[in-house]
Amino acid sequence: MSEKIKNKIEKLREQISEYNYQYYVLNNSVVSDYDFDSLLKQLEELETKYPQFDDANSPTRRVGGDITKNFPSVKHGFPMLSLSNSYSKDEILDFEKRISKIINSSFEYTCELKYDGVAISLTYENGELVRAVTRGDGEKGEDVTANVRTINSIPLKLRGNYLKKFEIRGEIIFSHKAFQKLNNQRKQDGDPIFSNPRNTASGTIKMQDSSIVASRKLDCFLYGLYSDDLQIDSSFEVFNLISKWGFKSPSIENRYVEKVASIDKAMEFINYWDKQRVHLPFDIDGIVLKVDRIDFQKQLGSTAKSPRWAIAYKFKAERVSTLLENIVYQVGRTGAVTPVALLKPVHLGGTIVKRASIHNADQMAKLDLCIGDVVFVEKGGEIIPKIIEVDLAARKSSLSTAKFIEQCPECGSALVRNDGEAQHYCTNAISCPPQIKGSIEHFVGRKKMDIEGFGAETVELLYQNKLLGNIADIYELSYNDLIPLDRVAQKSATNLIKAIKDSKSIPFEKVLFSLGIRHVGETVAKKLARNFKSIDVLMKASLEELVEVDEIGEKIAISLRDYFSNEKQIEIIKRLKAYGLNFTVKEQLNSSEIFKGLNIVVSGKFANISRDELKNVIEKNGGKVVSSVSSKTDLIVAGENMGPSKLTKAQALNIELCSEEDFLKKIADPQIEKTKNISTQGELPF
Ligand code: IVH
Repeated sequence: MSEKIKNKIEKLREQISEYNYQYYVLNNSVVSDYDFDSLLKQLEELETKYPQFDDANSPTRRVGGDITKNFPSVKHGFPMLSLSNSYSKDEILDFEKRISKIINSSFEYTCELKYDGVAISLTYENGELVRAVTRGDGEKGEDVTANVRTINSIPLKLRGNYLKKFEIRGEIIFSHKAFQKLNNQRKQDGDPIFSNPRNTASGTIKMQDSSIVASRKLDCFLYGLYSDDLQIDSSFEVFNLISKWGFKSPSIENRYVEKVASIDKAMEFINYWDKQRVHLPFDIDGIVLKVDRIDFQKQLGSTAKSPRWAIAYKFKAERVSTLLENIVYQVGRTGAVTPVALLKPVHLGGTIVKRASIHNADQMAKLDLCIGDVVFVEKGGEIIPKIIEVDLAARKSSLSTAKFIEQCPECGSALVRNDGEAQHYCTNAISCPPQIKGSIEHFVGRKKMDIEGFGAETVELLYQNKLLGNIADIYELSYNDLIPLDRVAQKSATNLIKAIKDSKSIPFEKVLFSLGIRHVGETVAKKLARNFKSIDVLMKASLEELVEVDEIGEKIAISLRDYFSNEKQIEIIKRLKAYGLNFTVKEQLNSSEIFKGLNIVVSGKFANISRDELKNVIEKNGGKVVSSVSSKTDLIVAGENMGPSKLTKAQALNIELCSEEDFLKKIADPQIEKTKNISTQGELPF
């Protein structure tokens, strides 16, 4: 009986998936909506009745329903790089020249549309979608699988002769039709309409309720395949291959993708789409050129940010003119004062523009702005548009040039501008409201003290209620302080207090970054922490001692000296120390010599440590990382899916293999253990 039901369920799943594939991937309508819906309903009923046959990739999951409160952070199997941008033919020719210096033969390009959406990385294992992760910071992204399952053109199960395990990358987009339909519905419901497809796609993919995502009908274009077992030699071939596996491929007939033999032909493709893009049923913001041959791509390699074998040609931004109604000044977390233009609302690139950043006093002087001028505004990819120039022909003689303010608009303190810097600052860090709130928001943020449930709204609420006046006050907050506040429920108060308590175990380098010292970002904080080992030593370091540290320049050194000579900041640090935050680097077992003189090969994928971290750790412990297995190899750190040839060789040469788990135990690095177990650590003293 149960076998019979299982078969019935599986048959229904196959049938529905096939209709789905025909419709959303191949554009064929082979079944009526009514018949499709009744099959789906039958399947739903069977799945509810027999939950033992549940399958996360059943076509019924496409209608959503799963609620995700927090999207877990997931490490990409391969870093998600970005593309370098170009805006002119000359830059494209320079790109070709750079490549020709390295590749000594002729080569072809794959030309593709640059879809204007939100990047996504899909992992398939044994023919099934197992994970969908946003780009994030390129190394780690957010797991949005439940939402991505609702996108009909993304196969949940593959067909044909697919690779056992791979990641496939693409762009989630809104077609104009789906976007229009959504906005029409919102208008009808009295909801505010969305301004552009890209931002809406990006917001939608991170919604908690996947059934809302399902109702919005997102789409996806795929363009990159990543696997240790990739056996193709051309970028263009990727499209043929993945379409055999059931993915939607860009249309060759419509010239969505083209392989060309010269840069002139690539320019023709660019020019064609610059004119034709208005007719596309979705937004693109440029064209991507990729060196077609994969072995050439490998030879060219990548920088930390982008591959050398690809470039994006960005179409020129749309430009409009409008009235400059006023200039206001915003004060940021570090006291930086930014002039902002208030514009007469105008349509530009799918949004209504009301404000534009003017960046700083120099920019303001360069533009020679008068309130009442007609200005040209452009949107060049960034969210905030820019004023490009004044329409001088339209200027009235009665207008006078706007002058940069001299006092902080928020607290009245005199503004200063340091030599060599473009920005004006309000130096009243201790009592200027946006600086206080900004510094607290920075302190609690991700990659810093990472106190969950402490968003801008909470900071505002606590500041308004005089519960927070600086970052140290955070550690004096109690449950009883929070509970009387508007909109604070018991559960969120308990969680916030626990998260604050947990943050005391954050390592010194992050605490240092969290302090929000001007010019001390994540990397600089790491460098300083590793060099000086404790805040006491860092505070005493002279300008000379600071600049001696690799990559610490005078600007950073001056900023540090300024910060540590402010008594009020010292007072805050003293309090943070008393509350138990880490102000010293915990002694690390890993700077030992356990790998001294050893040649170590790293192979495969690792779940809890990045390859770079792993290599770092080996070197810090005296080992040498080598790329190929030979008789000189002493040890292989073997991750998941280690290269088969390496494995055979290692076995033949009788070389010790060490699993990820054993390696982590071996080095017993408290830093790694901490990042790994941060959420499972027990209660820490308050
Ligand atoms: S290839 C390593 N191809 O543009 C290179 N990217 O500005 C990976 N994008 O992060 C990207 N269409 O999100 C590639 N046909 C295309 C694309 C494309 C849109 C996006 C992608 C990327 C961003 C870079």
